[in-house]
Amino acid sequence: MRKKIVAGNWKMNTLPAEGVELAKGVVAGRGEVCSCVNFIVCPPFTHLAMVAEALKGSDVALGAQNCAAEAKGAYTGEVAASMIAALGCKYVILGHSERRQYYGETSATLNKKMEQAYANNLTPIYCVGENLEEREAGKHFDVVKAQIEEVVYNLTEEQFRNLVIAYEPVWAIGTGKTATADQAQEIHAYIRKVLADKFGAAAAECPILYGGSCKPSNAAEIFAKEDVDGGLIGGAALKAEDFLAIGKGFAK
Ligand code: PGA
Repeated sequence: MRKKIVAGNWKMNTLPAEGVELAKGVVAGRGEVCSCVNFIVCPPFTHLAMVAEALKGSDVALGAQNCAAEAKGAYTGEVAASMIAALGCKYVILGHSERRQYYGETSATLNKKMEQAYANNLTPIYCVGENLEEREAGKHFDVVKAQIEEVVYNLTEEQFRNLVIAYEPVWAIGTGKTATADQAQEIHAYIRKVLADKFGAAAAECPILYGGSCKPSNAAEIFAKEDVDGGLIGGAALKAEDFLAIGKGFAK
């Protein structure tokens, strides 16, 4: 049985006090959703300590949205994986399309970030996905394959067993446009095959999340697909009620 995961990527939203309220709302309503669903919230760095406090005693896990490629030192403005781990993070989102697109993150950088994450006992949520042009040119399979081969293939099997993948088509992020459940299943199954080519049977255990305008009204249909193990949620994670309702989308 693969882990079922609903992770909230808050991006650059909420002030610290609002983030604490949001986290408290998730904790308060969490009991209405099956305990089989693993909830993760990923606030901005500035809120991590306070949100960690708000999550105390609950099974809602904390994650960060990024970490530095280096361990420590003269890297002004960067935040090390050891720092977020020390604040209670269990997860870190790496390779989000916004980081690849706006901050020039390449596979070379991401390999270093993954190394930092594992060195600090964090589970990476590694994001892959194609843009609209690539989808329309039918290149989406090749794009995600390269994103996996260039980074995930460098992991040891032990590291791979502690990895979450998020498939997020760039054309569906924040656009209100969602991949259909069939489109999601098609590429999730493909991703699992690419993982199996390298890691064999362990690929069957790797949670693969869907992300891109996932909301309470479409989560159940998407999560019902065999190779979809949950979601990485942006906009809808900013309301505790919607975030929790997405967790109720698991029927299997
Ligand atoms: P969205 O973002 O749910 O707002 O489309 C998802 C993401 O970028 O992780």
